[in-house]
Amino acid sequence: MRGLQARDYSPVQLEAALRTVYGVDTQLIADGTYFAAEAVVDEAVKDAAAESSGALVLVGCGGWSKRKTLYGGDQFAGREDSLLDPVTDAAKIRAFFVHPAWARRGIGGKILEACEAAAGAAGFRRLEMGATLTGVPFYRAKGYVELEAAEAQLGNGLTLPIVRMGKTRSG
Ligand SMILES: CC(C)(COP(=O)(O)OP(=O)(O)OC[C@H]1O[C@@H](n2cnc3c(N)ncnc32)[C@H](O)[C@@H]1OP(=O)(O)O)[C@@H](O)C(=O)NCCC(=O)NCCS
Repeated sequence: MRGLQARDYSPVQLEAALRTVYGVDTQLIADGTYFAAEAVVDEAVKDAAAESSGALVLVGCGGWSKRKTLYGGDQFAGREDSLLDPVTDAAKIRAFFVHPAWARRGIGGKILEACEAAAGAAGFRRLEMGATLTGVPFYRAKGYVELEAAEAQLGNGLTLPIVRMGKTRSG
């Protein structure tokens, strides 16, 4: 996020977001709804990745949720862990992060496909998320539409502009 979100948010916003809305939501891991992508470092990316060629590294992560929380790690006060109803509610797409050295290689898209398939298998027809401004073009490219502008509260009067986006699965 310090790399790819730098053009959308200030360093002050990003550091405050790391202490509040970002961070690991261990409920996603406990639910088995969080995915990680690994890759072998090759000559082309070894400098940007700050890793040696041949190393296996974590290059992306992202998940989905059957719970009401729209965003926020364990430390975030606005959490609501109660379960959604797949018939009436939208599953939440959560916490997508790709390493800058591997951006625009389809990794985020692959993780999103895995999330949509798993949420579909759990009975959800609709999906939504609180997208960062950085995420908006990515989700738009994947068929999501902007529903409303929102602001995540970061404390000390700071806010992070985000966009609630959604999609209805076909079929
Ligand atoms: C958003 C993010 C996860 C996308 O991951 P990614 O692996 O780079 O995405 P993909 O390569 O699968 O992109 C698929 C398509 O989305 C669109 N897209 C992705 N990033 C884009 C960008 N910065 N600008 C414009 N379009 C973009 C493009 O249409 C792209 O296809 P293309 O590369 O063939 O043109 C990544 O930029 C990221 O980690 N950003 C920082 C963290 C963040 O803001 N996450 C969103 C949280 S809601």
